[in-house]
Amino acid sequence: MLLKDKCVLITGANRGIGLAISLLFEREGAILVLGVRSEESIELLKSQMQFPEKHIYLEMDIANKESVDAAFKILTERKIYCEVLVNNAGIMLPPKTFNLFNEEEYIKTYEINVLGSMRVAKNVMKHFLRLRKGSIINLTSILGTHGAVGQAVYSSSKSAIIGFTKSLSKEFAPLNIRVNAIAPGFIQTDMTAGIDEVSREKNLSSIGMKRLGTPEDVANTALYFASNLSEYVTGQIIGVDGGMVI
Ligand SMILES: NC(=O)c1ccc[n+]([C@@H]2O[C@H](COP(=O)([O-])OP(=O)(O)OC[C@H]3O[C@@H](n4cnc5c(N)ncnc54)[C@H](OP(=O)(O)O)[C@@H]3O)[C@@H](O)[C@H]2O)c1
Repeated sequence: MLLKDKCVLITGANRGIGLAISLLFEREGAILVLGVRSEESIELLKSQMQFPEKHIYLEMDIANKESVDAAFKILTERKIYCEVLVNNAGIMLPPKTFNLFNEEEYIKTYEINVLGSMRVAKNVMKHFLRLRKGSIINLTSILGTHGAVGQAVYSSSKSAIIGFTKSLSKEFAPLNIRVNAIAPGFIQTDMTAGIDEVSREKNLSSIGMKRLGTPEDVANTALYFASNLSEYVTGQIIGVDGGMVI
């Protein structure tokens, strides 16, 4: 088992890529701290875990500083220290031309995708400094590395995560804290479910491997970054996109 008894915090653990990572990491022996937005999500998530009682479930809305701080306070009170963070939670608004996005939409996207990831990372650093080790796995996107028509707001939020990843990795490498990011291509989750058939076909034709990605494809890369297999790897942005960009 690659993660035996490692404590791993995963945000947005209840569905999509976050759920696939949670299920894989559980199979690899991790003790999970699963961050979700609601009590209902906790119940649903528990019903999907193989050993639900082994893990900790926290209500954590990453758009809200108080909510994140309160979740970490619970961990501190219980003396639970995580050595891996998967900064997975994120949103993507439906695509449209930049001129039609309004201020509220920019703020919502950045509040979750950028500030939310920073809030959780800042809190978990205290755990890492105590343990003298740690690994952060940020979720960026192929849209963050390459941009896309209709996605100026989301793609720029994901580009910010690349800068965040690289700067944090430089700053914390001397302290044995690694920071990497995964840049998925087109992965089949609720986030991409609303994409129309024409765009889906267009995307598919640009994928060298001629299939859409699965949440498990992303989870397997997250496992590498969470495990000691990558103990000398930091500051990297790894595409998981079936050859969409090479
Ligand atoms: N799917 C893709 O093709 C793709 C490609 C590139 C990058 N990504 C990135 O991969 C990550 C996961 O995407 P996904 O496809 O799995 O998305 P998804 O199926 O839409 O799931 C998003 C997850 O994020 C959670 N979340 C959203 N806002 C939150 C908040 N304020 N606080 C806490 N949790 C919040 C959701 O919780 P609720 O259930 O409560 O809403 C849900 O668990 C995201 O960062 C996304 O940008 C995805």
